[in-house]
Amino acid sequence: MSASSLKVTIKSTKLSPPMLLVLGIAALSTAMPDPSYRESLIRKERSQQTGGRMVLSEAELQFNALLDKLKQQEMESEDFPPAMHFFQAKDLIEQSQLFSLLQKMPKGGALHVHDFAMVDVDWLVKNVTYRPHCYVCFTDTSSVRFTFSLRQPKSSPPCSQWMLLDNLRAKVGNTTDFDQSLMRNLTLYSDNPEVAYPNQDVVWKRFEEAFLAVWGLVTHAPVFKDYFYEGLKQFNADNVMYLELRALLPPTYELDGTVNSRFWTMKAYQDELKDFLGKHQDFFGCRVIVTAHRGINATELTNALEDAIELQKDFPELMAGFDLVGREDSGRPLWYFSKALSLPAERGVSMPYFFHAGETDFQGTEVDQNMLDALLLNTSRIGHGFALVHHPTAKALSRQMGVAVEVCPISNQVLKLVSDLRNHPAAVLMSEGHPLVVSSDDPALFGACGLSYDFYEAFVGIAGLKADVGTLKEFAINSIKYSSLSPEQKNKALAIWQKKWERFVLENLPQ
Ligand SMILES: *[C@@H]1O[C@H](CO)[C@@H](O)[C@H](O)[C@H]1NC(C)=O
Ligand SMILES: *[C@@H]1O[C@H](CO)[C@@H](O)[C@H](O)[C@H]1NC(C)=O
Ligand SMILES: *[C@@H]1O[C@H](CO)[C@@H](O)[C@H](O)[C@H]1NC(C)=O
Ligand SMILES: *[C@@H]1O[C@H](CO)[C@@H](O)[C@H](O)[C@H]1NC(C)=O
Ligand SMILES: *[C@@H]1O[C@H](CO)[C@@H](O)[C@H](O)[C@H]1NC(C)=O
Ligand SMILES: [Zn+2]
Repeated sequence: MSASSLKVTIKSTKLSPPMLLVLGIAALSTAMPDPSYRESLIRKERSQQTGGRMVLSEAELQFNALLDKLKQQEMESEDFPPAMHFFQAKDLIEQSQLFSLLQKMPKGGALHVHDFAMVDVDWLVKNVTYRPHCYVCFTDTSSVRFTFSLRQPKSSPPCSQWMLLDNLRAKVGNTTDFDQSLMRNLTLYSDNPEVAYPNQDVVWKRFEEAFLAVWGLVTHAPVFKDYFYEGLKQFNADNVMYLELRALLPPTYELDGTVNSRFWTMKAYQDELKDFLGKHQDFFGCRVIVTAHRGINATELTNALEDAIELQKDFPELMAGFDLVGREDSGRPLWYFSKALSLPAERGVSMPYFFHAGETDFQGTEVDQNMLDALLLNTSRIGHGFALVHHPTAKALSRQMGVAVEVCPISNQVLKLVSDLRNHPAAVLMSEGHPLVVSSDDPALFGACGLSYDFYEAFVGIAGLKADVGTLKEFAINSIKYSSLSPEQKNKALAIWQKKWERFVLENLPQ
């Protein structure tokens, strides 16, 4: 090989003036830049961000002045909450005026919430564990399990000894500390999260323990119903008018040991929702996304989908679609399931998918491919999409298809994908107005509740100083626009939201 064939020539990358004109960029020079030109570029960039093209009323502009002032206050404080771990920031957030405002704000829908993490654990301990026939056991891993039973439950791993909680509490006397320790078991809360959770494996292990601790309580049939009702109450109280719930539909058990079917579970959701709607006229509703754990194999998924198809026939209004849950990094990639997931289409059944995808920071792994595969499998939304900005093709496709990303800031932080929320990749998505919604994933496990804490983190930490009333408005409108509701229902929900919003703005104009 001759030396000359190896020679690499670098062409000038400087753009010629005609080229600059083609790109719409004025000729660059070292002279003082034109301030009005600068202004127009700034305006252009602002119009690209989430909410940047919202048309605002006079009242909204006035309200925005207040919002702006409160946000400045947050940014000037020495401890900027979004830069801190949520466990340490929570008290500060609760003291913030902006947070109180966000609590009052009509936020539309919460589209990414899981069935057994929607109610704060205080209620579980103070209400549910005080019900009769509740047994507890302490495991070797310093966790707990619960079960309701008429008789002494049989011991089986990890429970060698079940104790009736009534008896145990009588022995303890002052139950304040004991109840606190039970609550700690049901959340991931720690005074010192950086030390308690040095890496993702440790925090996910604890996540799964907490989930198992909750399990025996919430799968008891009467508790299951009350839990869901209480969850609706808490979201409604946080000014969320609509929910889409990822639900595992586990078998529930009665006191005598009878086990109920998944049909029972869906019926329970339907009945409780109807009851709730009867008593809360302003609440719009709830739909269920049936989920299976991604640890299963393709045969099991095929069975789960057959089940889902049946449930969809029985509960067409309640059921929104299907998803796979569990830690992506340790589960199977979506592509492994691609054949099984084509089953509904092969049968001519429309089964909307709402895949968790891209809840990872391991770039280039098989699991990191999940977002593109979710889109190829015609997903309706992407759960988390934390890694989406690493994939320009998938990102463009998601935008083109109108597939919104469900951003869950606190979840991503607690599960150690990001520490300072200003560095959350959704900041990029928000700066370019990518379709997205804000949600709370598993608020109870993180010691939060409802949706406002995540709204705070998204608005103050991720979206940044220039995000304004338009941004908040678009978050809320998106939560209806990208929901699974029919076009008619969306219009109805939007009209209800609009009224609430206008009232909210008028009630919060600066003095
Ligand atoms: C527990 O919750 C149920 C239903 O949600 C309610 O009827 C009951 O009064 C509560 N009990 C206590 C002790 O708070
Ligand atoms: C129970 O213990 C807690 C904390 O240890 C204490 O604050 C509380 O006063 C005690 N309650 C009673 C009734 O003694
Ligand atoms: C769970 O509760 C038990 C019993 O009170 C307690 O000993 C244990 O430390 C708790 N575990 C956690 C992780 O808080
Ligand atoms: C899938 O899992 C089921 C239940 O665990 C098992 O019986 C079956 O053999 C597995 N199938 C394959 C193909 O691995
Ligand atoms: C994609 O999903 C939507 C919503 O579920 C459905 O209406 C549409 O028919 C699906 N398209 C294909 C090609 O499967
Ligand atoms: Zn989730």
